[in-house]
Amino acid sequence: LTVALLFGGRSSEHSISCATAGGVLAAIDRERYNVIPIGITRDGAFVLEADDPARFTLDAEQLPEVFDNGSRIRWPESSLSHQLTVSDGAGTGHRSLGNVDVVFPILHGPFGEDGTVQGLLELVGLPYVGSGVLASALGMDKHFTKTVFQQAALPVAPWRTVTAADWAEAPGMAFAAAEGLGLPVFVKPARAGSSVGVSRVSNLDQLAEAMRVALLEDSKVLIEAGLSGRELEIAVLQARPGEATRASVAGEVRVTGRDFYDFDAKYLGADGIELVCPADLTPVELGEMQALAIRAFDAIDGAGLARVDFFLTADGWVINEINTMPGFTPISMFPSCWLASGFTYPQLIDELIEVALA
Ligand code: DAL
Ligand code: MG
Repeated sequence: LTVALLFGGRSSEHSISCATAGGVLAAIDRERYNVIPIGITRDGAFVLEADDPARFTLDAEQLPEVFDNGSRIRWPESSLSHQLTVSDGAGTGHRSLGNVDVVFPILHGPFGEDGTVQGLLELVGLPYVGSGVLASALGMDKHFTKTVFQQAALPVAPWRTVTAADWAEAPGMAFAAAEGLGLPVFVKPARAGSSVGVSRVSNLDQLAEAMRVALLEDSKVLIEAGLSGRELEIAVLQARPGEATRASVAGEVRVTGRDFYDFDAKYLGADGIELVCPADLTPVELGEMQALAIRAFDAIDGAGLARVDFFLTADGWVINEINTMPGFTPISMFPSCWLASGFTYPQLIDELIEVALA
């Protein structure tokens, strides 16, 4: 089977997507799969990349990146052909890359995890790993994720959504929202990930700066009540035909000496965070969490895979968010949860590809 791996992209999570691709390139079973690595530059050019996992290791000094090497991937012009071609830098020659059987869009954030790339693949009829257009779009937008979860009677933290226009015209409304929700609050871009642009506000004096930082990422921002409790994450895999959707064991993020689980703690090994997988939960707690995670996956019409993030508070479970293309770096929680549930990394990739083709 030929798998086209898509990574990089136009979002602020470009480098994380590259690191995720590095993890997959290193683990995918080469006897079963012929891999075409396709990078998307920060400007959105689709280029043929090196099949070299070592190029994409996460290094704080030099985050991995797709550079424009001049090549250009040509997508099929209709759903009648699944043949990919690449043109060279001079634009003079074309070369076939063969027929693609399945695309693995390992893209995080806008223009990749939000239904846009999924729409492109739908148009040309190429099977792909993960959620479709609607679930991707819903999962990317924290305002709509929470709205859909609420509608499905799933527990979410109270929040207010503030647009750039609201903030420009009536900043008092954001202050009132934060006050009404009770400090601390988290200020988050609606459509971003990996904690990019997220701030914890424990004092109203910090709100304006938090809004400024979040608005750099998106014109829509959530102000969300900060919850106290344990931070737990769980991975979901789509059912195989005739079987039930599966949830993994849970992982826990223990914030020991940091404000919150931010970008540096997620990817750059910063101190003050401990990841524990499997998390110490009673069988009843784990069962509740798995059931809620599967309901959350179904509520957005998820497909393929997801990671669902929770808080376990004194009042019970609260769902923080769902990630339809969770981080897949060797230290990420999604693969860790499945490894602790009995899969190997290559088996997990097989599973995702097989479900996409089923
Ligand atoms: N958005 C990052 C990649 C995650 O959810 O893991
Ligand atoms: Mg996220």
